[in-house]
Amino acid sequence: MTGGEKALDFARPKHPQEVAMQARKRFTAEGHLIDSGILTKLLNLIIEEGADYEIAELKVGKTELLPSSLELDVMAATEERLSDLEKKLVRLGCYGKAAPEAVFKPAEKKACVPDDFYSTTNHRTEVFFGGGWHPVGRQRMDGVIVKAPSGLVCKKLREVEPADPVLCGSESVRVFPPELDRQGSSFGFMENPVSSERSVKLLVRDLAEEIRGITGRQGKIVAVVGPVVVHTGGIPALSGLIRGGFINGVLAGNALAVHDIETAYFNTSLGVDKDSGRPTREGHRNHMRAINRVNRFGSIRQAVEAGDLTTGIMYEIVRKGIPFCLAGSIRDDGPLPETATDMIEAQRRYAEICEGAEMILMLSSMLHSIGTGNMIPSWIKTVCVDINPAVVTKLSDRGTSQAVGVVSDVGLFINALAEQLGCLAKGPSRPGE
Ligand SMILES: NC(=O)c1ccc[n+]([C@@H]2O[C@H](COP(=O)([O-])OP(=O)(O)OC[C@H]3O[C@@H](n4cnc5c(N)ncnc54)[C@H](O)[C@@H]3O)[C@@H](O)[C@H]2O)c1
Repeated sequence: MTGGEKALDFARPKHPQEVAMQARKRFTAEGHLIDSGILTKLLNLIIEEGADYEIAELKVGKTELLPSSLELDVMAATEERLSDLEKKLVRLGCYGKAAPEAVFKPAEKKACVPDDFYSTTNHRTEVFFGGGWHPVGRQRMDGVIVKAPSGLVCKKLREVEPADPVLCGSESVRVFPPELDRQGSSFGFMENPVSSERSVKLLVRDLAEEIRGITGRQGKIVAVVGPVVVHTGGIPALSGLIRGGFINGVLAGNALAVHDIETAYFNTSLGVDKDSGRPTREGHRNHMRAINRVNRFGSIRQAVEAGDLTTGIMYEIVRKGIPFCLAGSIRDDGPLPETATDMIEAQRRYAEICEGAEMILMLSSMLHSIGTGNMIPSWIKTVCVDINPAVVTKLSDRGTSQAVGVVSDVGLFINALAEQLGCLAKGPSRPGE
């Protein structure tokens, strides 16, 4: 061994209690800590981080609906390690008992904030200042919190303006992770958030009930839709849901509109005849012919208004006047005139359409579903349908009990849902129907 090398240390790592715990702080948490598994996560996290704890008080809710409350002292080797651990505890809804006044520091310049900025989760969040807790608006993950004249708001880094007061540190923050739904909603029973083909029928029935409830109280439901919906025969079903008023916003890419319009004009998707399932002669040109025909009118909307595009998903969207955004991608042909190729603008529009939604139906687009999942708060109910279990798990696993995953062919799923909701048209929709 040369002088510059260091001997490997095979010594047994010290048990937390053998390390001198110099720093100590009282924390508190409230909610359904036990059956939501939050208590276990908190205690495991403390031990994994080489710290230790003493539970000062644990009051368990006497009934299923009553919350529990916890006070615990957390000990760490140094103040610095305790502060690092606190940032992780806060994300689980456990915060310092005596919260200090929040510190806001001015942004150095556009899109550049002080290094100790607080990075947001998608859970409901409050910040302590002026002697009270204040809610944060436009909650989303991977943002910063800015104190605006209208109140606290989450902003993406790129939205931060010079001198914006940016929240720094996590000592004055409390976060409320979602808990299991006990209010009798059909999302409550879905203990196992990923359903396989076998249980899809039952799930669709409960989901239809949930959708009826939301629609009945004028709530908002947004669909994220991939082109597979078209390829698997989902056009009449999704058109029916839009026509029936069950969908209040659509987020998709260029391909959904291209293949939907290809079907409307030529009865093919990707050149395959919708009735016979056989490739048609020169069918590979059809999606380009569809784009070309829309370009002739100037936009999808104008093609509908001119009476040229008379059926399909895009037709129903335009006719119903619901907001939609087609976000561009590097795979796009055309793209169609309405496709937003400026990605920042597309993200802004997606977030705007999601604002105030109660439910998001994510139908077989990994790209656009993940993009949407990143911008919505954790309390929005999400339903993720994909044939690939890995995609469903990824989309459902957003730290919320409000996500339901369905491993299924999306054509079968959307048809079953439209049938349950009584809006499965016999044939393609026609003007005046
Ligand atoms: N011609 C074009 O312009 C063109 C064509 C294709 C895609 N695109 C663009 O590329 C981007 C990505 O496309 P995407 O969202 O389709 O791809 P994606 O890979 O992000 O998602 C497709 C998903 O569909 C799932 N899937 C496949 N078959 C299924 C079935 N039968 N039932 C349920 N799920 C099924 C896959 O597992 C996958 O997760 C989009 O922006 C799209 O508009 C453009």
